[in-house]
Amino acid sequence: MYGNCAVILAAGEGTRMKSKKPKVLAQVLYKPMIDWVIDSVKACGLDEKDICVVTGHESAQVCAHLPQGVQTVLQTERLGTGHAVMQAADFLRRHGNANVLILNGDAPFMDGETVSCALEYHTRAQSSGTVISATVDAPTGYGRILRDAKGDFSGIVEERDATDAQKQIREVNSGAYWFDCQALLVALDQMQTNARYRANAAKEFYLTDAIEILRGMGQRVTTFNSKSAHVVLGANDRVQLAALNEIARMEQINLHRKNGVSIPFDAGVVIAPGVKIGRDTEILQGTILRGATVIGEDAVIGPGSVLENCRIGDGAVITQTYGTDAVVAADTQTGPFARLRPGTTIGENVRVGNFVEIKNSTVGSETKISHLSYIGDTDVGSGVNIGSGCATVNFTGKEKFRTVIGDNAFIGCDTSLVAPVRIGNRAYTGAGSTITEDVPDDALALGRARQVVKKDWVKVKKPYRSKDNR
Ligand code: UD1
Ligand code: CA
Repeated sequence: MYGNCAVILAAGEGTRMKSKKPKVLAQVLYKPMIDWVIDSVKACGLDEKDICVVTGHESAQVCAHLPQGVQTVLQTERLGTGHAVMQAADFLRRHGNANVLILNGDAPFMDGETVSCALEYHTRAQSSGTVISATVDAPTGYGRILRDAKGDFSGIVEERDATDAQKQIREVNSGAYWFDCQALLVALDQMQTNARYRANAAKEFYLTDAIEILRGMGQRVTTFNSKSAHVVLGANDRVQLAALNEIARMEQINLHRKNGVSIPFDAGVVIAPGVKIGRDTEILQGTILRGATVIGEDAVIGPGSVLENCRIGDGAVITQTYGTDAVVAADTQTGPFARLRPGTTIGENVRVGNFVEIKNSTVGSETKISHLSYIGDTDVGSGVNIGSGCATVNFTGKEKFRTVIGDNAFIGCDTSLVAPVRIGNRAYTGAGSTITEDVPDDALALGRARQVVKKDWVKVKKPYRSKDNR
């Protein structure tokens, strides 16, 4: 048994994007437009196998991107939205008695709530077709919703076919619809066989003509007016794409603000959908949060931090830090200018200072790595102090090895720890040491040349240059 289904139109060329990528893969808040659309479909209870995407331009790239299970059909010639849906006729036939949601692949703000409410309305009204409309300030370019003398919906006229009077109408077609599959198939069939349906300014098969055809057959067609005018917005070029990004950016920021997150200035703050932030956390300017990032309460993030797929604990202070796939526990401070690379797990109340890079390592609680160090493939204990300018020498050029630093160890400034090597608990390394052998617990290791002092060397050698008037 097949239930309701969705057809997403994504054969558009997107020439004006001037991109190597197909338009529907252009990103809004780091999320391809088609993913926004697929998420809206899923929000009304449909899953991947109920979705058919009509591809055309750069079809292979679109298909490769789509989640497992989503069906695709290829529209080889771009003959209009009606023609695009015709390509999915077999898919529609399989869903015979159910409803189909038609969506534009490049309209990311057609949200799950709107399509769900529209379906409820469509079902209750026992309609054959329901157009999701929106009332906008600038209707230019959109199909206008036509109503008869009684105010009942009577059809859609495209911009290029509209009279001056019709162009004044501000209620527009969003390009999203619910149709009874069977009824839509009949309408598409008529569209295909009757030449009059391509006698429009674009010489295309208009999906919007299905409305008029269904009405002519005595079927009920309705409109569902969306709460937000944003549902109609699409992007044909990068200027419009930037406008979509700005709308989505402010929507996310205000959503978090309403949930108790403090974002005093929104300048340069970008928070992708799906990021979670706890109450009383402060997000400062220039901070970008994306992927599966989760931040606790009372933290301060930024200014200028970029976190992707990071988990940050309560009360952490993450200043000018670039983090990817890293975990930071409560009350830890990082930055300014810290880099946390994948596989980094940092304990509570740790200090990771400026110009410190940590990769694929664990760091125990209360440890300090305050300046100019590289920690890679290392297990650092708790209460450790790592002086300035230390490096784990983890790569031979061929192979990588791990370093282990025990609890409460003290690594002197400018120590090189040549892996594989183990520093014992409470052990010390002298500043400037190159440590190649394990250091036992409680020991001091010195791995550097003894200092030589040559008395009166300057007086004897007279190494002055002639310019020096010393
Ligand atoms: C369409 C509607 C218009 C509505 C607007 C909302 C028609 C005739 N008009 O206009 O009433 O206000 O959307 O955005 O439907 N596509 C294909 N194959 C094609 C043609 C289009 O896949 O042959 C896809 C496009 O990639 C796009 C979507 O269908 O995702 C809409 O096509 P577009 O050309 O943007 O339609 P509009 O003329 O803007
Ligand atoms: Ca369009």
